[in-house]
Amino acid sequence: MAGKVTAAQIRAMKGGPEKIASLTAYDFPMAKILDEAGIPLLLVGDSLGMVVLGYPDTTEVKVEDIEHHVRAVARARPQALVAADMPYRSYENPATALATARRLQDAGAEAVKGEGGQSIIEQVRAIVAAGIPFLGHLGMLPQHVREEGGYHIKGKKEQERDGLIADAQALEAAGAFAIVLELVSPPVAAAITEHIKIPTIGIGSGAGCDGQILVIHDLVGLWPWSKLKHVKPRLNAAEQIRDAVTAWKKGLAH
Ligand code: KIV
Repeated sequence: MAGKVTAAQIRAMKGGPEKIASLTAYDFPMAKILDEAGIPLLLVGDSLGMVVLGYPDTTEVKVEDIEHHVRAVARARPQALVAADMPYRSYENPATALATARRLQDAGAEAVKGEGGQSIIEQVRAIVAAGIPFLGHLGMLPQHVREEGGYHIKGKKEQERDGLIADAQALEAAGAFAIVLELVSPPVAAAITEHIKIPTIGIGSGAGCDGQILVIHDLVGLWPWSKLKHVKPRLNAAEQIRDAVTAWKKGLAH
């Protein structure tokens, strides 16, 4: 994709020949590298709470944390669209949602993401009405991991499936430009993909989505302590860093 990527361009990739390849980025060098690799959508995800800040889940992440990392990513001036997560409890009503979205936009985000469907639809409408592109997130909602007691596959029950489709349709109607589907049962993710005209971007939700998103640390083996089933690291970065550092340290002894 030549030139600066917009939310409208990501939306238009639905049904196109190219799957949407999206990755998280939290800092300047990674944003530059992923941009050079042609990734059209970079997410400053609240997963940074775990893979960068060392929290047990995303619920500790504050707007200031995301702002700080958005600024670093934006300094790379990527061609990719830069989306940022609105952290837990930072979008509980339309006014706070808009205030959070504006803070992230001021830091350099070109789109914001929030977790939920019909339950946050007024917030989504307020953000979209202000001209800020909104990326939805349905299925397993990591900001609710404590209430849910873990990361579970969604959509296995008929009622859950119907609820997810209704949520996706509500997000589309409210003006979201795409929806992340996290840990959604693959046939349900494929059904959602067919029911809406905006792209679905899956994570652990099978191949039937319009695109895929991963936490960059999982893809390159920089978070070797995870036991995720949906991602096979393409690199053992942690091991390679350990080996390089060990070899350098040994070399100092001579
Ligand atoms: O926070 C994050 O990185 C995310 C993606 C994994 C979808 O929400």
